Amino acid sequence: MDLGIKGKVVIVTGAGRGIGREIARAFAEEGAIPVIADIARDSGEEAAGEIATALGVKAVAIQTDITDRESVKRLVENTLSEFGRVDILVNNATVIAPAKFFKDETWEEVDREISVIYQGCLNCMRAVIDPMTQQGGGCIISILTDAARIGEPRMANYGGVKGGVGAFSRALAKEVAGDGIRVNCVSPSMAITELWKGRREEEKTKLGEEKFQDLQRKRLKLYPLGRFGEPRDIADAVVFLASERASWITGQTLSVNGGYAIGPW
Ligand SMILES: NC(=O)c1ccc[n+]([C@@H]2O[C@H](COP(=O)([O-])OP(=O)(O)OC[C@H]3O[C@@H](n4cnc5c(N)ncnc54)[C@H](O)[C@@H]3O)[C@@H](O)[C@H]2O)c1
Repeated sequence: MDLGIKGKVVIVTGAGRGIGREIARAFAEEGAIPVIADIARDSGEEAAGEIATALGVKAVAIQTDITDRESVKRLVENTLSEFGRVDILVNNATVIAPAKFFKDETWEEVDREISVIYQGCLNCMRAVIDPMTQQGGGCIISILTDAARIGEPRMANYGGVKGGVGAFSRALAKEVAGDGIRVNCVSPSMAITELWKGRREEEKTKLGEEKFQDLQRKRLKLYPLGRFGEPRDIADAVVFLASERASWITGQTLSVNGGYAIGPW
């Protein structure tokens, strides 16, 4: 099936590693040009190099701090000057505070999540609306979390902020529909990435091996399809939503979660 995204220019924030890197790779496999916008210069450049070498395509890294509007402005200006357009924005970059109850979180941890996740997404969305409007349309996809859908304890602020991006996106979808811009979200549950491994190591240290393995078995039971997610599971959904095959889909959030959060089973 032709997805209709050959030659499209795709900014993916936080694509230096994890799900973002896989999203950039999945777009490149379909003939799109990924622009990797990560705060971490080394991993951003490594990701662009890896994709370009493996697939023989163009992929570039532009170091960007999405919390800094000047940095985001440079990202979009440089993308436009190199490729002449920006077709797709994927808001993927994130931070996450160590798991604890909200009452125990420091204000620095709370503010950092608000700044990177909420403000960062808004900075990037605002920066692409004008160029997308001028070129006749575009597509914005933000990566949320099913922790926001079910209300995950010890991640209240992270889930709250991601839920805010979802609410914002539904309203924005209506505001920009007339300009040919579609706005959607993809909401993963656990996907095995560096972030995921870091969280599990924290738990293992805290609980000890036996209790940790017990917790993992209990967790897996929440997934009707019997496995945790892989970055490619999320990337495939993002590419579909950005494609011509999804041209009548806007203002939606698609959970990609192996059945987690359907409800009790
Ligand atoms: N991994 C999971 O289990 C899981 C589950 C649900 C949702 N998600 C969501 O999926 C997305 C990707 O998750 P991941 O596991 O790949 O995360 P990750 O931590 O592996 O990668 C996040 C990337 O964002 C970059 N980043 C952080 N702050 C930035 C900033 N200010 N500007 C630009 N880049 C910045 C980091 O350098 C890093 O490369 C996130 O939005 C996350 O919330 C992940």
